[in-house]
Amino acid sequence: MLKKRTLYSLALVTFAFILYVVYYNFIYDPQAAGFLSHKTNLKRPLQLPVWLNVMYVHVIFACLAMAAGIINFSSYVFNRFHRFHRINGYAYFASIFMVCLTSGYMAPYATGGKMTSIPFNLLNIIWPGMVVIALYYIKKDNLNRHRNWMFRSYALCFTNLFIHLITLLARNVLGTDYKTAYILGVYGSITLLLVLPSLVLARKKSPLFELEA
Ligand code: HEM
Repeated sequence: MLKKRTLYSLALVTFAFILYVVYYNFIYDPQAAGFLSHKTNLKRPLQLPVWLNVMYVHVIFACLAMAAGIINFSSYVFNRFHRFHRINGYAYFASIFMVCLTSGYMAPYATGGKMTSIPFNLLNIIWPGMVVIALYYIKKDNLNRHRNWMFRSYALCFTNLFIHLITLLARNVLGTDYKTAYILGVYGSITLLLVLPSLVLARKKSPLFELEA
């Protein structure tokens, strides 16, 4: 499982992000007016009340996935509350499934059109697929591979954070318009979050985990 310092740092980032996401989407801008203002020339008209409710469900399950995931990387929880680790693991999987289901509804309306809806939909398949692989390995009693695939899948919980960070950078550093910046954000975040965890895991002596892979 994760080394204590890594776990605490990641938990801090995770819970700060959860607080921000809940505050921003349910209190600051519950109508998603800022985000939706960039959606111009949509191929199909957006049903606002339906889209908003789907987005709320998306956000709630995204936050549950982030919380469930980080708790399961704790050695303390793993060693002392084995049953909880299992149940929480299934809760993580169910939450990811719901994030992807709601993402599937929102993807056709994504800012950037097909350019972004395609990678979103690919992720809707790849992300739960990673958890299925992780479950397969634990059924085979391969703890290291289980942990590594869970780690790879957990990285994707930060897709939204990375999209917004890269969009912000592209707008302010490269000076691109919002749509281009958002497209760069989607491709940039998915690429980084798929590649970086594997690079970290490929290192012989893992800087992150207590158990060696
Ligand atoms: C787990 C962390 C995630 C959080 C907290 C999150 C949160 C959000 C939020 C708040 C929105 C509304 C717009 C915005 O402010 O960005 C959104 C939109 C969306 N999310 Fe997520 N999301 C997460 C992960 C994902 C993942 C992994 C996918 C793909 C599998 C995804 C697919 C989408 C799609 C397709 C939209 C609509 C984009 C658009 O209309 O341009 N999200 N998400």
